[in-house]
Amino acid sequence: MKGKFITVEGSDGSGKTTFINSATEYLIKKGYKVITTREPGGTVFSEKVRELLFDSSNEIDAKTESLLFCVSRRDHIIKKIIPYVEEGYIVICDRFVDSSIAYQSYGRGLNKQDIIDINKYTTDGLEPDLTLYFNVDVEIGLSRTKGRDENNRMDNESLKFYKDVKRGYDELSNDYKKRIKVIDANQDYEKVEKDAFKILEGFLNNEF
Ligand code: TYD
Repeated sequence: MKGKFITVEGSDGSGKTTFINSATEYLIKKGYKVITTREPGGTVFSEKVRELLFDSSNEIDAKTESLLFCVSRRDHIIKKIIPYVEEGYIVICDRFVDSSIAYQSYGRGLNKQDIIDINKYTTDGLEPDLTLYFNVDVEIGLSRTKGRDENNRMDNESLKFYKDVKRGYDELSNDYKKRIKVIDANQDYEKVEKDAFKILEGFLNNEF
């Protein structure tokens, strides 16, 4: 039986990474075959592209950046996402195409239709079965990540940039209500996790 492709989206400080780890552990315990992966990255080749993208000594223009995300995504889909889904795994992916629309279009200001088009070419139309969007206010998210030492080229943007990105996610979740489920990530993490688990279980039990 075919597996499921689930993506998790949201800004820094939304709790999405913590949730991915606990959801993976929980689903494995319940007997599901699960793999967790991330974008950019997930394959040896794509992790190399990730290094290029995040290296603060590289100055790259917005279109180059958007194309590199696609390069990384294509390899990841072909070598990992599709083969695992075909084998019956639940593939949980930290970020996917919605990130490109939110960051490269709403954030960087590239034409939205162009980003949609290059991603259609990249994915051959592959879409997640479910997307969990951890919706956190920009200021709250940033205050939670203050003091984390991992800093890369994507982490030093203006408040306006992050607000634009959030607007992108908000619009996407409004446009794709069936696929994208929104979790209020401003709440305490326990409540965030509880809400996210409820949606995940409902999805796996075919409730929607
Ligand atoms: P990462 O360090 O993986 O952490 P987090 O997901 O917790 O933020 O950061 C990935 C960065 O890459 C993040 O700033 C969003 C950005 N990104 C894009 O701009 N476009 C994309 O298509 C993807 C997948 C990520």
